[in-house]
Amino acid sequence: MESGRKGSFVHIGRVLITQEEIDSRVRELADQISADYADRNPVLISLLKGGFIFLADLVRHITVPHEVDFIAVHSYQDGFARSERIEILNDLKRSVSGRDVIIIDGIVDTGHTLSFLEQMLEDRRVASLRVCALLDKPSCREITVPVDYIGFKVPDVFVVGYGLDFKERYRNLSYIAELIPATALEEAAEPATASRNKERTASAKQNP
Ligand code: IMP
Ligand code: MG
Repeated sequence: MESGRKGSFVHIGRVLITQEEIDSRVRELADQISADYADRNPVLISLLKGGFIFLADLVRHITVPHEVDFIAVHSYQDGFARSERIEILNDLKRSVSGRDVIIIDGIVDTGHTLSFLEQMLEDRRVASLRVCALLDKPSCREITVPVDYIGFKVPDVFVVGYGLDFKERYRNLSYIAELIPATALEEAAEPATASRNKERTASAKQNP
C-alpha cells in the first residue's frame, strides 16, 4: 500500500505482461509497420506521456524511413477516474498535411482521446491515418475507434508500467502490472504504519 494523497492508497498487483513478452510483441508490430509502410515515410506520433517508452522501443525495430513527432494531451484524468474532456497541452512541431500518420498510443480505454485526435488529424488533412496501441481495453470502449495495430488486449483493470502511470508513478516499470486500490478497511487501519511498510514493497518492486 502506498501513501499518496488521502484516499489514493494502492498496491502493485500481478504482472499481466512481462518484459520479454512486450519485447517480442513490439518487434512483431515493428515488422508489420515496416512491411506496410515501405517507401511511404510515415510520421509516427507518440501520444504523451503514456506512449513514450513504446515509441522509443518500436522505432528501434522499424526498418523503413520514418519521422517521429509528439503530442501531449490532457484527459482530465486523476488516478482511476475517467473523463471525456480532452485538451492539447503540447502540439505537433511539423505540419502533417498530406502525410501518412500513425498514432502511437500506450493504451486505448474509452476511446475518447483517440477519437478526439483522429478528428483533429483529419481536419489537418493527413493522407492516411492508422493507430498503433500497445494495450487495448476493448470492454471499456465508449466510442468506436479503429485500432489497426494492437500489442495486447487487457481486461478492465487499471494497469501501470512501460510508460503508463498512476498519478505520474510507475511509468518506469519494464513490465505491465495491475494496480490494486486498497480496500476502505486497509485505509482505515493505521494508515501511517501500513503505508510505510507498503511503500517499501512498492519501491522495491520499482527498483528490483
Ligand atoms: P481513453 O479513455 O481511451 O481516452 O484513454 C485516456 C487515457 O487514460 C489513456 O491514454 C491513458 O493515459 C489513460 N488510461 C486509461 N486506462 C489506463 C490504465 O489502465 N492505466 C494507466 N492509464 C490509463
Ligand atoms: Mg495517466
